[in-house]
Amino acid sequence: MTKKILITGGAGFIGSHVVRRFVIQYPQYHIYNLDALTYAGNLENLRDIEEAPNYSFVKGDIVDADFLDQLFAEHDFQGVVHLAAESHVDRSITDPLAFVMTNVIGTVNLLNAARKAWKGNMKDRRFYHVSTDEVYGELHDPGEFFLESTKYDPRSPYSASKASSDHFVRAYYNTYGLPVVISNCSNNYGPNHFPEKLVPLMIHNIIQNKPLPVYGKGENIRDWLYVEDHARAIDVIYHRGANGETYNIGGHNEWKNIDLVLLLCQIMDQKLGRAEGTSQQLITYVTDRAGHDLRYAIDATRLKEELGWEPSLQFAEGLEKTVDWYLTNQTWLDNVTSGNYQKYYDAMYEGR
Ligand code: NAD
Ligand code: DAU
Repeated sequence: MTKKILITGGAGFIGSHVVRRFVIQYPQYHIYNLDALTYAGNLENLRDIEEAPNYSFVKGDIVDADFLDQLFAEHDFQGVVHLAAESHVDRSITDPLAFVMTNVIGTVNLLNAARKAWKGNMKDRRFYHVSTDEVYGELHDPGEFFLESTKYDPRSPYSASKASSDHFVRAYYNTYGLPVVISNCSNNYGPNHFPEKLVPLMIHNIIQNKPLPVYGKGENIRDWLYVEDHARAIDVIYHRGANGETYNIGGHNEWKNIDLVLLLCQIMDQKLGRAEGTSQQLITYVTDRAGHDLRYAIDATRLKEELGWEPSLQFAEGLEKTVDWYLTNQTWLDNVTSGNYQKYYDAMYEGR
């Protein structure tokens, strides 16, 4: 019998790669992609699989508890992979409440819907919550890494909202026996990344010859993972992770922001046929992000030893694939930056 799997936030950056992977790898599943299509949700990301017989899109908001209850009553979901979230740290600094609504209330609504629908029948069910390494706070000592046992210390409204949702997920395991699993991943990069985040913003601005805003001195460090490697990790953990457990996912690939921006400038100069050193002249140091976490770095040993997952792509290869994708998909970039993609889908879903 076909298993119904609900993926939330599937029109976003990582969600679209997870949806594609599940639709293609598992024809025995029917994938329901639930997404509110906020500014970050874009069905263009899934054009290539939207006609697949085992895929359906559902427009809806996880903040709406009645809607979720109805959806779970309508479909006997075997599992949930929950990615829907407000995801940008800078936006959380200007509008923290939006992050509480979606990331905290939305997650609790989803937990409640699953708990009610699965009551008395939790066997072979799975509630997978996709979280972030930012819940662990920041690192200073170069020899230190985030482990699954690292104490939570969220320092931005975004990470506080994600930490809160993680706590609720664990509480539902402990209190109601909901079969949950959580992963905490480092920074992703790759195709379909919304150009407000560092990597696609820099690529876009280099193409446009616009300033490249580097926060503070550019010395903050992030651990970068190619998005398809994250989607593969989610697949592995969804199918083989243990209930109630947490798995860290990371690239073992730390870069100072300024070094990453310089590398992107170098790659882009080559790709665009510009003289070496042209793009780096666009670098502009700007006021630092408030409360800017210094360094994130994941220790993903557990995932490797217990479930055999490792990143597959070298950074140079992943970055080149990413740059190539943006250069050949400039219409996607233009639509996203002009807001045109939203007008199209707003009209399409009006009145539904
Ligand atoms: P994104 O912002 O690109 O996409 C989020 C998606 O969620 C969008 O499609 C949006 O329309 C949808 N959404 C937002 N609010 C919603 C609501 N109320 N109801 C239904 N749908 C809603 O985010 P992303 O970067 O793809 O991140 C996906 C998940 O992975 C998030 O939970 C994030 O915390 C986590 N994560 C992201 C990264 C990263 O580097 N991007 C790393 C680790 C973990
Ligand atoms: O670590 C995982 C997290 O990574 C995810 O949970 C978040 O959803 C995701 O957005 C990302 O958060 P960051 O804040 O690390 O990503 P961002 O791309 O916004 O910034 C990366 C680094 O680059 C950070 O140190 C801030 C800096 N930066 C960012 C932007 C947008 C700049 O210097 N200039 C910029 O214009």
